[in-house]
Amino acid sequence: MADLQLTDDVPSAADDGVWLACIECGESFAPFEDVRYTCDHCDGLLEVRYADLPTFEDFEGEGSGVWRYHDALPFDVGVTLPEGNTPLHRVPRIEDEVGVESLRVKHEGMNPTGSFKDRGMTVGVRVAKEVGVGRLACASTGNTSAALAAYGARGGMETLVLLPAGKVAAGKIAQAALHKARILEVDGNFDQCLDIVQDLAQRGEAYLLNSLNPFRLEGQKTIGLEIMEEHYADYGEYPDRIVLPVGNAGNTAALYKCFRELVKAGAITEEQVPKLTGAQAEGAAPMVEAIEEGLDETRRWEDVETRATAIRIGNPVNAPKALPGIRETGGTAVAVSDEEITEAQRDLAGEGVGVEPASAASLAGLRKLRERGVVGDDESVVCLTTGHLLKDPDAAAEAGNDPEPVANSTEAVLEHLAEN
Ligand code: F0G
Repeated sequence: MADLQLTDDVPSAADDGVWLACIECGESFAPFEDVRYTCDHCDGLLEVRYADLPTFEDFEGEGSGVWRYHDALPFDVGVTLPEGNTPLHRVPRIEDEVGVESLRVKHEGMNPTGSFKDRGMTVGVRVAKEVGVGRLACASTGNTSAALAAYGARGGMETLVLLPAGKVAAGKIAQAALHKARILEVDGNFDQCLDIVQDLAQRGEAYLLNSLNPFRLEGQKTIGLEIMEEHYADYGEYPDRIVLPVGNAGNTAALYKCFRELVKAGAITEEQVPKLTGAQAEGAAPMVEAIEEGLDETRRWEDVETRATAIRIGNPVNAPKALPGIRETGGTAVAVSDEEITEAQRDLAGEGVGVEPASAASLAGLRKLRERGVVGDDESVVCLTTGHLLKDPDAAAEAGNDPEPVANSTEAVLEHLAEN
């Protein structure tokens, strides 16, 4: 079982108070000397650790966005566009309908390339420069590739992305293409693309920037910091629960790390940690299966399918970090149908919040958990929406109103409006 306890011991491998620790065997490594993604000894996942952890006071007067939180990150500044500082929308009609104490929507689609991946890439590409690698690479259901392409371009580096052929939304491919990534369309699913990229990385052919890379998760941690600060400012308390869409479970792992560090720093108590609650599509729900069956690890689903292509993932590589996160915080995981996802996407759009299908899984999941009585009416909840509506224009058009053809005159328009 993974050991995610943060200790006070600073190993000799630490560089300026930063090191990498294996969550399985506890081995420590220097952070930037060599390129490594997993433990040399046991192949366990690595986590970035710090000698000093900041509290909220340390962030005061530090500007906005991801780098406001540089005291919680391995560098003071990264390759930036800039990213973070996303809105925490109020959605009063949905809040009423769901029936919770409060509901806010943290819209990560408002990042520079339209998804939360930007928070990870601003740190990850900075690290790539530090370790001095040439080519950057990732497997992706789309958003990671768009972010990597943009941040790679910003950093003046070559990027290579492997995508499951025919299963990536149009907006995401367009972004990767225009930001000059080499796009390899693989006849396979995301998990198989990731297997290949891991092989390439192992052979020294590319620097891997999937969420297996522990530095990516450091940037994504700042979602949690922003939610905690803003929620506290608005309500005088932290949210009871955060519901988020889960694919590779990187974000779940990142949020859990955020909260562990805040507790360790004394910024919040254990009781103040929000319950991490994952939502997956029914056709790709290995995390839900593991939570429901009490498994220590996920079973790899070979066949996955969902309209929410961003989370069409059967082998969540960050499960060893994310499953304890869900369990230790008192959260849970829930599977939702594609129809429920589309309905939630429409309802969010009806409040002016435009999200891609995967993002709407969080609201769909919250609804289901309210129906089941798992989420109480006294809870304050934040739903994370991870990607922008324009990422998947086909899904948006399908879910939305149909254009109505009309003749070219004011009379014809008025007549049409009167008749329909
Ligand atoms: N939502 C969106 C819009 C995503 O693009 C992803 C992941 C997730 C949720 C799930 O996040 O993996 O941290 O659990 N997209 C990756 C990609 C896999 O390649 O863009 P996770």
